[in-house]
Amino acid sequence: MTDIVKERQNHWLPKIEAELDRYTAQCGSMHGILLEAMRYSLLDAGKRIRPILALEFCRAAGGNPEDAMPFACGVEMIHTYSLIHDDLPCMDDDDLRRGKPSCHVKFGEANALLAGDALQPLAFETMLSGSSIRSDLTVRAAAALAHACGAAGMVGGQMIDLENEGKHVGLDELRVMDSGKTGAIIKAACVMGVIAADGSDEMIAIAENYAENIGIAFQITDDILDVTSTAEVLGKPVESDIGNDKSTYVSLLGLEKAREEAAKHTALAVEAVAPLGEKAEFLARFAEMLAGRIK
Ligand code: IPE
Ligand code: IPE
Ligand code: MG
Ligand code: MG
Ligand code: MG
Repeated sequence: MTDIVKERQNHWLPKIEAELDRYTAQCGSMHGILLEAMRYSLLDAGKRIRPILALEFCRAAGGNPEDAMPFACGVEMIHTYSLIHDDLPCMDDDDLRRGKPSCHVKFGEANALLAGDALQPLAFETMLSGSSIRSDLTVRAAAALAHACGAAGMVGGQMIDLENEGKHVGLDELRVMDSGKTGAIIKAACVMGVIAADGSDEMIAIAENYAENIGIAFQITDDILDVTSTAEVLGKPVESDIGNDKSTYVSLLGLEKAREEAAKHTALAVEAVAPLGEKAEFLARFAEMLAGRIK
């Protein structure tokens, strides 16, 4: 991993953790177990890819990256809720997540469902109440995330994913599915960072182009790791996709072609931010790190 990636991760990870801790601690949960389940899945775990993208796109767009912190926390809460629900027996039925028993294994199905439910509005409360930037920009960011995580984005993609189980679908259909289930939230993270900096339309377009490509590469790599890694390294079960007869890049193209496709989209992401010159350094190296990740 290049120095700039390590350096920025070391800078952001403790700050993101502290803010997620603070926002959940003060959320006023009516039930202790609900709060415990939310914090169990959210804290001390996860690579925090999406928050880092929000913070760093804010910087790349000329803003103070700290301004994007409530958006960074919001997107991580939405992402965590999506993981809790994704693991439920009625979805992927996976019992390990982020190196621990999945939320429903630890707290029971109904409580896990509710912990995911509660993280969604907390994400928007965090963004709308925690933001210190112009209110019109905050509203724009919240609207972008809301659009990305619903029927037109993550939830829609998740439904297509379930519908595609046991089917042989083509590359175009896989792209649509992945752009929803994985790409949309990654794109919202990048775009919200630009919005926090009050960046130009041109900068938004750069963020979208970068995010679309790392989003595809990210899910392809996730599909590859499902067959090449171990549960110890990944912190989640392997061969989950095979077990559920999922349609993935690996099942469609095989490992070698899937790797090529991930590399192609990573290069396109690097190209997308090239017009930013030196400001693109972190984003370019981060995209490459994601493609080469082992977990
Ligand atoms: C996993 O996301 C789910 C996908 C969208 C592929 P991450 O690989 O970012 O999971 P965490 O947040 O690090 O646990
Ligand atoms: C799910 O994709 C993406 C989400 C919206 C959570 P996967 O089902 O492949 O994610 P993992 O492998 O369980 O993390
Ligand atoms: Mg899934
Ligand atoms: Mg899954
Ligand atoms: Mg997966």
